[in-house]
Amino acid sequence: MGSLQKTAVCLLFLSVSSSASNSKFASFICSDVKTEYDKTAAISCIGNTKITNVVVKRCESCNEQNSCLETIINTWNGNYSSENGRIRLVLQHNVSEVQIQEVKATDQGGYKWYLYSENGEGNRCTNLEVTAPEIEPDFTRNGRKLACLSSIGHPQRQIHWFDGHGTNLTGSASLVSEEAEGGLTSLTSTLHEKPTLTASEYCCTVLYDVHTKRSKTKCIRAHKAVTDYLHFTSTPDQEILKTMEAQEIPKTMEEHIPIILVLIVLVLCCFAAVLYYRHRQRAMARGSFADLLRTLLPILRQHENVEEKSLNQEV
Ligand SMILES: *[C@@H]1O[C@H](CO)[C@@H](O)[C@H](O)[C@H]1NC(C)=O
Ligand SMILES: *[C@@H]1O[C@H](CO)[C@@H](O)[C@H](O)[C@H]1NC(C)=O
Ligand SMILES: *[C@@H]1O[C@H](CO)[C@@H](O)[C@H](O)[C@H]1NC(C)=O
Repeated sequence: MGSLQKTAVCLLFLSVSSSASNSKFASFICSDVKTEYDKTAAISCIGNTKITNVVVKRCESCNEQNSCLETIINTWNGNYSSENGRIRLVLQHNVSEVQIQEVKATDQGGYKWYLYSENGEGNRCTNLEVTAPEIEPDFTRNGRKLACLSSIGHPQRQIHWFDGHGTNLTGSASLVSEEAEGGLTSLTSTLHEKPTLTASEYCCTVLYDVHTKRSKTKCIRAHKAVTDYLHFTSTPDQEILKTMEAQEIPKTMEEHIPIILVLIVLVLCCFAAVLYYRHRQRAMARGSFADLLRTLLPILRQHENVEEKSLNQEV
């Protein structure tokens, strides 16, 4: 037997004996991770036995498995880190962890694991969600041009426009997106007031998360004197209103005060009218009683006279 054949037989024997002693199948537990922007993300998988080799690929998301192209870790090639050590693998017995330092918005996505252990191999995919700072939008008005700036944030956030009645004006606005540090973006949305597009109030909403509807809103009123009195918060878009900033709430309360005052005055007027009407009815009733007395008295007197006369006659 050649030395090559000997080693082959040896390897076969070893693999058979090892699979006989470890009768369990390989199993791996990996879980999704959510990390704040600029912090360290730790994505890990735990096996039921010692993990020997790991390959990690980056994907758009775990739902698009064919998007897993870039290999960031491959222990078979001795690649334990990438991006100059920003991303590195820590392998300790049955725990395999990929640590990503100073996490960027562009690190968000799926991480496909190819795990090799003493008991066998397996594939898993974990999602990394990066939460970006959620700063308030800056609202400026320059003549007929309204600009809403969200200077830095997650690239997936959106800017929507509404008028004071909750009508969606987003279709009339134009959006410019610029790349900022760490995969974040700067968004500027511009709306031009036209004769066909005028409202008493303009609101710009930055929607940070489409699923949770987390957002911040800033509003500008066009003609303050009029809108202060006629403004009412409509509710065609419950979700947006619900997620409006807390600081917006006192403003809308203030706007309700004139309406409440008008209602109170109306109620008082009604009350006064009812009182007046009752009073008049009673007065009229009293008046007609007096009339009745006035007509009845002469008759009564006549009757008395007649009685007196008859009495006199009897006497
Ligand atoms: C991983 O290995 C440790 C011992 O190092 C063990 O206690 C633990 O149960 C193992 N985990 C799993 C999921 O089997
Ligand atoms: C990592 O992998 C690449 C190929 O993808 C290879 O060229 C490089 O030498 C590897 N790095 C190390 C440290 O082995
Ligand atoms: C507003 O309209 C735009 C398109 O013009 C749409 O993408 C967006 O989802 C709408 N927003 C709401 C909250 O309905």
